[in-house]
Amino acid sequence: MAELIDGKAIAAELRGQITTDVEELISVGVTPGLAVVLVGEDPASRVYVSMKEKACAAAGIYSVEHKLPAETDQSQLLELIDSLNNDEKIDGILVQLPLPEHIDEAQVLETISPAKDVDGFHPYNVGRLMTGHPVFQPCTPYGIMKMLEHTGVELKGKEVVIVGRSNIVGKPVALMCLAEHATVTICHSRTVDLPQKVAAADIVIAAVGRPEMIKGDWIKKGAIVIDVGVNRVGEKKLVGDVDFAAASVNAAAITPVPGGVGPMTITMLLYNTLLGAKRRAGESS
Ligand code: GUN
Repeated sequence: MAELIDGKAIAAELRGQITTDVEELISVGVTPGLAVVLVGEDPASRVYVSMKEKACAAAGIYSVEHKLPAETDQSQLLELIDSLNNDEKIDGILVQLPLPEHIDEAQVLETISPAKDVDGFHPYNVGRLMTGHPVFQPCTPYGIMKMLEHTGVELKGKEVVIVGRSNIVGKPVALMCLAEHATVTICHSRTVDLPQKVAAADIVIAAVGRPEMIKGDWIKKGAIVIDVGVNRVGEKKLVGDVDFAAASVNAAAITPVPGGVGPMTITMLLYNTLLGAKRRAGESS
């Protein structure tokens, strides 16, 4: 049976370290600050944003939330971002996605100063990651890398199969695994022979957003499985992209849903905000 990769426990350990570093920075007169921008009423986004606020408060990070109505126009949103770019108390700016249909998401992300882009979504930061000189690494893939590190697995020479090609998870985590010398395959909804691809993997990263799409008997014996999916089935139940119970038979280690990747994402947001503040204080490059 697979060992559980306990995201909650790993996140708690990291948050302890972050909290200590925040205290130290505050003692030299620099309080890390995060601005979160939420446009509209998407219920899942509201939950995420309030979790981010609570996590900041617990770590001693100053946070400010800007809740804008769904009918906010492009120029109002860009003006707000511009003022946050110039706000000395703010080290990180996060615009919660998805944005309402009428908003040009690419232009919004490109307006955030790359030096405050704690999501790592600005094309400048995407390019820096791609060329192996990251400035801010996107939170969910970064959290996945921390979890893999925690298992003790060496990525060098390993076969990593990623299912999902989003800008937020699939593509950046592929770059991060490549930087660690893994051999990386990115699969997606049109991939032919997905079971065979997954069966070749030493490490499977599932980020496709389809409940339990990855079956247990696809998993190679001894593989590590990271499940990024959070899919609601029925009223209350959350399941991942992997059939957890069946995959646990062959996997050496697996993340649960919930309690796996989720807690790591917010932790890496705190980490990136702290990093921004350390740069402001001249303590990090
Ligand atoms: N929506 C879903 N995931 C994310 C994320 O990591 N950052 C932002 N800004 N929005 C999201």
